[in-house]
Amino acid sequence: MVAKMLIASAALAGVAMAGPINIARDLKEYKTDVTIHESCNSTQRRMLEKALADTWEVATFAQEYVVTNGAQDPVFQKYFGTKPEAFSTVAGVWETLLTSNKEGVLLRCDNIDGNCGQVGWRGHWRGDNATSETVICDASYTDRYFNEYFCMNGYTVAGSPLGTHWSIDLIHRMFHVPTNTNGLVGHYSEDYASALELAEHNSTYSPIDSDALQAFAAHVYAVEVAKGGDACVGQPSEKHDDHAAASSSASAAPSATSSAAESCHTHADGAVHCEADSTASATAAAANASSTDANAGKDCHTHADGTVHCV
Ligand SMILES: *[C@@H]1O[C@H](CO)[C@@H](O)[C@H](O)[C@H]1NC(C)=O
Ligand SMILES: *[C@@H]1O[C@H](CO)[C@@H](O)[C@H](O)[C@H]1NC(C)=O
Ligand SMILES: *[C@@H]1O[C@H](CO)[C@@H](O)[C@H](O)[C@H]1NC(C)=O
Ligand SMILES: *[C@@H]1O[C@H](CO)[C@@H](O)[C@H](O)[C@H]1NC(C)=O
Repeated sequence: MVAKMLIASAALAGVAMAGPINIARDLKEYKTDVTIHESCNSTQRRMLEKALADTWEVATFAQEYVVTNGAQDPVFQKYFGTKPEAFSTVAGVWETLLTSNKEGVLLRCDNIDGNCGQVGWRGHWRGDNATSETVICDASYTDRYFNEYFCMNGYTVAGSPLGTHWSIDLIHRMFHVPTNTNGLVGHYSEDYASALELAEHNSTYSPIDSDALQAFAAHVYAVEVAKGGDACVGQPSEKHDDHAAASSSASAAPSATSSAAESCHTHADGAVHCEADSTASATAAAANASSTDANAGKDCHTHADGTVHCV
């Protein structure tokens, strides 16, 4: 014990000796917004600028809603459970996403890692290749919607893919960038229904669950801004089992056909995570294919329904 403490303090001394701490420091370079890389052409840039503005609009609204209405609010409790300490975490996540230093945080359009060719990929975090960078693939420009589209054409918060809108998709992608929330937010549920399940029965991780945070932001925006009411919130479809079936049949049937509604991205450790839609087996197959190597030694867990999720 004593020896351990000596080693620990020697290590601390080593750190301290690397540079004095108690000196005045200039503030670092601070950027308020995400940079759009030069690989994006003028059309892509205009769309991404609007998408980012949408992102901050939704995140700002979510943050104001949390701070104003508090932890007893029924919508807050629906997504984050009834533990009052969830409040500071959730408020902090939105605050950090909005105000953390965006120096080096980049969206790029050049498919630099060659991942955009995979079925269903609309973009991906660059992971170890460049932790603050996100690639937006061409498919994003054809099928993501701006905020004005909330509650249009059958969209519901509960029944449509979380990444239907640019804003929610980019919130998700920004959660993966370490400087934005310092790795706090992760994937503890798989979709809308399982995020609600988590909040109801096991809410410890709900305030840092990416899907719960995205769904909450979409819900608040749909009701408060888009004025879509109950009809736009909708009901979770009972497709958790279909999803499980789709994923497992995808592993067994590599020739599954494609779906436009699925969206995959890569995690820090290279694991592939797909926001599934019940028909999205082809992308699940692609994810299965790419995650085969990537998941070795990674943090995977099996859900009650038998699906395996790696983070
Ligand atoms: C930008 O790139 C996209 C995708 O490659 C292309 O469809 C579009 O025509 C380009 N726009 C301009 C202005 O070059
Ligand atoms: C990192 O780059 C390599 C090779 O360029 C690529 O195969 C891999 O998919 C990239 N990783 C991510 C997370 O995109
Ligand atoms: C609660 O959720 C966490 C995160 O998903 C999971 O690891 C844990 O096993 C769950 N606990 C119970 C009792 O379901
Ligand atoms: C899915 O992964 C398994 C190994 O875990 C592999 O044998 C199988 O070929 C993969 N399926 C597809 C569609 O890539």
